[in-house]
Amino acid sequence: MAQAITKRIVLITGANKGIGLAIAQQLLDRGHHHVLLGTRNLEKCATLCCSPEKNLHKKNNVNSGKEVLEKHFKKNENIECVQIDLSSEESIKNAAAHVKKNHEKVDTIIHNAAMAFKGDAFDADVVKSTFAVNYYGTIAVNNAFLPLLSNNDPRVIFVSSRAGRLSSIQSEKVQQQFLQCNDFNDLTKLLNEFVDTVKQDKDKLGYWPKSAYGMSKVVYNFLKSSCIIIFFCYIMSLSDSFFL
Ligand SMILES: NC(=O)c1ccc[n+]([C@@H]2O[C@H](COP(=O)([O-])OP(=O)(O)OC[C@H]3O[C@@H](n4cnc5c(N)ncnc54)[C@H](OP(=O)(O)O)[C@@H]3O)[C@@H](O)[C@H]2O)c1
Repeated sequence: MAQAITKRIVLITGANKGIGLAIAQQLLDRGHHHVLLGTRNLEKCATLCCSPEKNLHKKNNVNSGKEVLEKHFKKNENIECVQIDLSSEESIKNAAAHVKKNHEKVDTIIHNAAMAFKGDAFDADVVKSTFAVNYYGTIAVNNAFLPLLSNNDPRVIFVSSRAGRLSSIQSEKVQQQFLQCNDFNDLTKLLNEFVDTVKQDKDKLGYWPKSAYGMSKVVYNFLKSSCIIIFFCYIMSLSDSFFL
């Protein structure tokens, strides 16, 4: 007799549009996943007007977001909107508590949410807001959801960008410092050097790139390695026989 397939539970942050939504759609099409569609605004998520079978972007002929969500749930029980705002610790905590209560675990975390200011906006406030979401927000989501990660082929995925290439920092010495970072503290220290430089004079950046988004993705790429180390430590702590 064929065995029932247990759906893998996948959290995708920033999945109410763009790449996150496309990933959700692909996973749903494959039929082996229960997708937790992360969104900072539940109404917005609901008004996606999901036609879950094929085209999540398609508009439905319904008025309120709530209506769409209800209609949507009836059609596909393998997708669910989860409110998660990377700039709010409370929202992240609530999202993790919600997932724990309803699913007990996640099998895959896809860190996709990110923000970038439009045009060439660039000053200390832009840098602060961008890092609050793309860097500190991602760390907070990772910390909140790591304890829920299952031990059955768990995955943590970081959606990055070419904008975060290390060579955008025009100093080999500083590039080396990034490569030698051992943990979040080392990374944050380097990041603060960039922040301080922007605060002093945003037009005298020296070797730093004039891009808050770009720099947030540079550190994000290193964050990925740090999170992987923590992730392995976590998996090892789950099982004494990890290396056997
Ligand atoms: N598009 C590209 O060409 C490209 C290239 C390379 C890498 N990427 C990366 O791909 C990922 C997705 O990009 P995209 O192009 O799909 O961007 P997008 O269409 O702008 O979608 C970004 C998503 O992140 C969400 N988000 C923004 N701030 C948030 C916050 N504080 N808390 C929670 N969610 C938040 C947005 O929610 P709202 O709708 O509420 O704003 C949206 O759902 C990002 O990590 C980006 O760096 C994109």
